Amino acid sequence: MIEPQKKPSYKIYKGFRIPMVFSVENFASALNYQAQPGDAFIVTYIKCGTTWTQHIVWMLNHDGQPLPVGKNIQLEIPFLEKVGAEFVANLPAPRFIKTHLPYELTPFHPEAKYIYVARNPFDCLVSFYYHTQGFVKLYDFAAGTFEQFFECFIRGEVDGGDYFDHLLGWYEHKADPNVLFLTYEQMKANTRQAIIAIADFLGPAYSSKLQDGEMLYRILHHSSFEQMSQNQSRWSSTRPAEMTPFIRKGEVGDWQNHFSETQKARLLEKFIARTAETGIAELWPDLIPRLR
Ligand code: A3P
Repeated sequence: MIEPQKKPSYKIYKGFRIPMVFSVENFASALNYQAQPGDAFIVTYIKCGTTWTQHIVWMLNHDGQPLPVGKNIQLEIPFLEKVGAEFVANLPAPRFIKTHLPYELTPFHPEAKYIYVARNPFDCLVSFYYHTQGFVKLYDFAAGTFEQFFECFIRGEVDGGDYFDHLLGWYEHKADPNVLFLTYEQMKANTRQAIIAIADFLGPAYSSKLQDGEMLYRILHHSSFEQMSQNQSRWSSTRPAEMTPFIRKGEVGDWQNHFSETQKARLLEKFIARTAETGIAELWPDLIPRLR
């Protein structure tokens, strides 16, 4: 039986669901940010590996050194919709920018670059559930249940909007010359390859630095789940000690510990219906056989 509806908080701006704490002015200005040649955007649907990718990109730009304690990645590679256009425009070039915007709202320039990271919707949902529980003041969902969150996610009634709209919009552009399309699962399976792909995509100034192997080794080491689990104040604001940490579990397949048979069938049905004939199911070839 589905429990009475409780939702994580969000507000709606022009039909788009945004976190409660976001300033509408900053969000509106973000949509009008003029992307510049050389800008590099890290684009994800929420909980798909944004912070991990931000840290890899930051280290590529800092000789493979990890982000030191005392700095926050969200200021180093700022979240466009949160900080607004002016903050981003004032960054020194080359600018590295985080966004969760769907394709049609993301500021575009043909000479800007876009690294998109997708994650399977089952694990994304689980991660998002703990995220909404953990940011107690932001979402007012500390006592929310997985069942309640599932209902919100499957209807697209969460901040960031509908998972499938986001994925479909960006997937159509996966072969564009200025888009690098990765999955969280690929990054997990072969992080080294993902780091090299990101460096190659950003250009010779980055890929050449990986040649001697030492910097690649450092980035690999400092981007590991174990290392990123240390000093988590580098990634986000602190959460109550009783909540799961921001860098939580970092696994592929944790959904199997959370979904009921009915929930599996419902999200699978939605996944198949929304991604039919797109090729998206091939991003996660093991997923559908495991669900059936
Ligand atoms: P889990 O909640 O499944 O553990 P985002 O940065 O987009 O909010 O994504 C957060 C998810 O990425 C969390 O997933 C987090 O643990 C995972 N993550 C962060 N850093 C990681 C790393 N170095 N390796 C693997 N997963 C990582």
